[in-house]
Amino acid sequence: MSQLNDPDYVREQYATETNLETRRAVWQPTADGLDPATEALRAIDRALVGDAHVLEVGCGTGVMAEQINALPGVTLVAVDFSARFVEMTAARGVDAREADICYLPFEDASFDVVFAGWMLYHVRDLERALNEVRRVLRPGGTFVAVTNGNDHLAELRIEAGKTREITQFSSETGESVLRRRFADVRRHDLETRAVFGDHAAAQAYLDSAPNGGELPFFEGEREYAGHVTVFEAR
Ligand SMILES: C[S@@+](CC[C@H](N)C(=O)[O-])C[C@H]1O[C@@H](n2cnc3c(N)ncnc32)[C@H](O)[C@@H]1O
Repeated sequence: MSQLNDPDYVREQYATETNLETRRAVWQPTADGLDPATEALRAIDRALVGDAHVLEVGCGTGVMAEQINALPGVTLVAVDFSARFVEMTAARGVDAREADICYLPFEDASFDVVFAGWMLYHVRDLERALNEVRRVLRPGGTFVAVTNGNDHLAELRIEAGKTREITQFSSETGESVLRRRFADVRRHDLETRAVFGDHAAAQAYLDSAPNGGELPFFEGEREYAGHVTVFEAR
């Protein structure tokens, strides 16, 4: 188990919104104006047929949950195992509950769509988590998952003396992992951009997670490439 999916680390990392918000703030769309959250929202919207029950797992501060909740005909439940994030998501008018993806407190086949954004790489038991997703999805329902590739911010990490971040659910491995449970898996790869106003902003990003490294000083603004995939499975 790496630190990234050590439950104690994950709980501490997301006990408050500070780390997540430091990282979210730097992301800019691709050169052709696409961003992964909007693409994931489109995938969710495409999967809706009439009134639909949607589950978001690992909802964080609830930014995406608020947008899913506003889609016509959607009844949304959002879960996260951070009590603070559940409180923040509920404040956006979403039915938000504390739960672990590995132990979802829902009946079999109770959702038409499940969404997991940037969270499967944090789960201690990925197989169990995906079994739970499959269990609560109705047959023919859609699972939308977003994750990063191995080269996501690799240049930044390497300049800071670290290596690429290889995770258990990445752009590289996600498709084969999902094909074990879903007959139809589609992917949309996006080259995003992290724009840091100055060296301090880039170092703060690295410091928002442990083992981030020390970035040699630079003047002015810098941009680093991100690699993200939106998976759509049914
Ligand atoms: C990188 S954040 C992403 C948050 C949000 N989806 C977003 O895109 O802003 C990962 C989220 O997953 C949650 N999380 C991690 N492991 C979890 C688990 N086993 N069950 C439920 N939530 C979990 C964390 O608390 C955190 O909110």
